[in-house]
Amino acid sequence: MKKYFLLCVALLIIFASCIQAENEGDEESFVTDHPSQSEDEIENERDEMAVGTAGGKKLLEFVVTSDLHFTSHDVVSIYPMTEAVQELTDLFLEWVIRRRPNALIMCGDNTNSGREDDYHLLQQKLVRVREAGIPIILVPGNHDFGNGHGDLFDKYARELCDFESEDAGSMSFSVRMPGIRILSMDDCSQNKDYYGEFSEDSLRWLQSEAKEAGDSDEFLLFLSHHNVLPGGEDAVDSQYVIRNQNLRDLLPECGVRLCLSGHKHSQEIMRYGGLYEIVSATPLASPHYFGLLSLYEDIVEYHTMQLDFSGSISTMARGDAAGNSAGFDFGPVLEEEARKNHEMLETILSKADLSGFDLREKAAISRLFEEFMNAQNMGEIALKRDEIMGNPYYDDFIEAFSDLNYGPWMKQVLENTELPGNTLRISRH
Ligand SMILES: [Fe+2]
Repeated sequence: MKKYFLLCVALLIIFASCIQAENEGDEESFVTDHPSQSEDEIENERDEMAVGTAGGKKLLEFVVTSDLHFTSHDVVSIYPMTEAVQELTDLFLEWVIRRRPNALIMCGDNTNSGREDDYHLLQQKLVRVREAGIPIILVPGNHDFGNGHGDLFDKYARELCDFESEDAGSMSFSVRMPGIRILSMDDCSQNKDYYGEFSEDSLRWLQSEAKEAGDSDEFLLFLSHHNVLPGGEDAVDSQYVIRNQNLRDLLPECGVRLCLSGHKHSQEIMRYGGLYEIVSATPLASPHYFGLLSLYEDIVEYHTMQLDFSGSISTMARGDAAGNSAGFDFGPVLEEEARKNHEMLETILSKADLSGFDLREKAAISRLFEEFMNAQNMGEIALKRDEIMGNPYYDDFIEAFSDLNYGPWMKQVLENTELPGNTLRISRH
């Protein structure tokens, strides 16, 4: 199972350069917004969305992200952007403050390894958001307990969150806003290992919260770090999925229609009957996604956005608590990201078994591989599946990668990914 995890992690960082270049001119991109918007543009869009959609009046809006892996240390990472995670965090939070959502939601792995100094610095940054009147809702992730640094989530992260009630046996809590109850579920305390799991007591607390939400006609939003549903890479079981076997049946019984999670570092939306789950990608890797979730009178709507690194930021990244107005140039780290991703793509291609194919066939197989990886990285497998699987070289493409495990994995993803990962619109009831 672990090899699939490593494979997926590797896949996430492959296509940064070509994907970003494509998106700049891609009118059909799902990217509908980005952080370089002027304040007037942001305000105009908010007004437009407030007065008119088929889903009724807009009630609330949330900015959603996951797996920031914030650190102030020089750590080994597969993501070159980790070097600039402090500045990236400033850029993102500045946009959040300008956008003025009803809350900022972060679905775990908020820090890279749960170190106290990292928690402290991240807290300083998040305090600026809260002081701007934007509530913060954090979920613990396995990395927030990492490397023997213990559990500081409660001291530094939960302290930032204003909640109505909490589970006595874990760090789960609930937040109520008009028309919605948000359950920030701690699936890590029970098992501070790689897997997510809830105790029976925590599930009983969840059920009592759900009962109250049902009695109050509140939309129930379930947040966790690990996933509730298996994704396209494995339709039956997955190492990413929370271990409680009955969870995917229990949640709909409790009235939950939508879950938000992270952990995979890739963008994906899954469905199980009437239960939907949005998995947020890490903002550290291309395409540097985060999400906007909107609650309307009749519908709930989600779409991804991309960080725009071209704008200047007021950075307090390097421990300058007062902040300063020095711009930060993301150019070098983006170039390194593109170079590294290209190199990894070339490495994988070089290991595929293309013997027995002529030059034309090799080129066609390579193109299919690139198309798959691009679509996977952008959360667009469901949109590109028919085109890829209908290609006359599809069987050769799968076969060429079969000895690397990539072949079976790509086939599973293509066959099992039902929904586009970038946009969702469901009824509220
Ligand atoms: Fe993570």
